[in-house]
Amino acid sequence: MSNPSLLILPGDGIGPEVMTEVRKIIDWYGTKRDLAFDVSEDLVGGAAYDKHGTPLHDDTMAKAQEVDAVLLGAVGGPKYDVLDFSVKPERGLLRLRKEMDLYANLRPAQCFDALADFSSLKKNVVAGLDIMIIRELTSGVYFGEPRGIIKEGNERVGINTQRYTESEIERVARSGFEMARKRGNKLCSMEKANVMESGVLWREVVQRIGDTEYPDVELSHMYADAGAMQLTRWPKQFDVIVTDNLFGDLLSDLAAMLTGSLGMLPSASLGAPMANGRPKALYEPVHGSAPDIAGQGKANPIACILSFAMALRYSFDQGDEATRLEQAVEKVLADGYRTADLLGEEGRSPVSTSEMGDAVVAALDASLS
Ligand code: NAD
Ligand code: IPM
Ligand code: MN
Repeated sequence: MSNPSLLILPGDGIGPEVMTEVRKIIDWYGTKRDLAFDVSEDLVGGAAYDKHGTPLHDDTMAKAQEVDAVLLGAVGGPKYDVLDFSVKPERGLLRLRKEMDLYANLRPAQCFDALADFSSLKKNVVAGLDIMIIRELTSGVYFGEPRGIIKEGNERVGINTQRYTESEIERVARSGFEMARKRGNKLCSMEKANVMESGVLWREVVQRIGDTEYPDVELSHMYADAGAMQLTRWPKQFDVIVTDNLFGDLLSDLAAMLTGSLGMLPSASLGAPMANGRPKALYEPVHGSAPDIAGQGKANPIACILSFAMALRYSFDQGDEATRLEQAVEKVLADGYRTADLLGEEGRSPVSTSEMGDAVVAALDASLS
């Protein structure tokens, strides 16, 4: 049988830096666990624009549709701020999500013990935290029509449309309920049904799917603004959260800081099952291209490394190996390795991106003895 295929899209800024570390991990699995991948690499975002004049070449899009999984670094950067909206780096990523129909974006936020002191919140609020945000990723205000900037009289108007069909809500709700069943059997759905019709429909549909298909799962609803407040007040009240595209974008950045740093948070974007039964999938860190630290060897590669762990679990049926990698990361943190984003005012000297990657590889080696 041929090896599972993986398309790597490092992208811009710190994307290529953190991906270099993930390549070390992928190589380790090939040589030490007899788990080899057919890896191909291509351009996305500003890097693709520089070469092709588009943030995602059609050939790359086609490749992404064919492989077992895509692993992406990050896109964007100030250099591209002047570009027309239609060719901005971020459009490349949005096209991948939309055309692969990756409607369920899993964003786990887990606070590693070694980092509980480092969060900007009190230790007892975040210690042991383990929640999963499921963000709808292919609809809502990110994609709704009409959109644009139009002229009205003598001024311009910026327009975006929040739009959800029942079936779009149903399928992501099911992702939420299924995930809840695998975890603490508790799902909280967030919208703003108090002010938005799309929120009214969202709440109604999630409730119906719960009543008819998942009566065993404890379901609650919360307005998304109150949800943000509760996430900072006492995040451990949550297990799985399901929410729309824009609220999920905001709430997952917030959740990242509960864990210590945006440099820690992985994600999996999953679509419908392919012929092999596995979902179409793209894995990427939640963070962006971090232009303020790009090129300096300061980036934390853990979010991207943990994204590969999610690929092992959700695309390659290697749950045990995913756990091995997550435990290696935990060990490295417990041993005191810290990139600059995890140091605060402690006065210790940070390790570099590549030292962190090497430490994870060493911890993987140690896991075999
Ligand atoms: P960002 O996530 O790039 O950076 C926010 C802050 O977090 C910065 O101070 C950065 O240094 C820090 N940070 C982020 N990742 C880090 C890591 N791995 N290690 C250490 N520190 C890290 O968000 P931003 O500054 O708002 O956006 C920069 C660019 O990235 C924009 O063009 C934006 O559109 C893009 N972006 C891309 C993605 C993506 O590709 N998925 C996600 C978010 C933002
Ligand atoms: C994310 C990012 C993206 C989003 C951008 C880069 C398109 O912020 O993945 O969270 O807004 O979805
Ligand atoms: Mn975001």
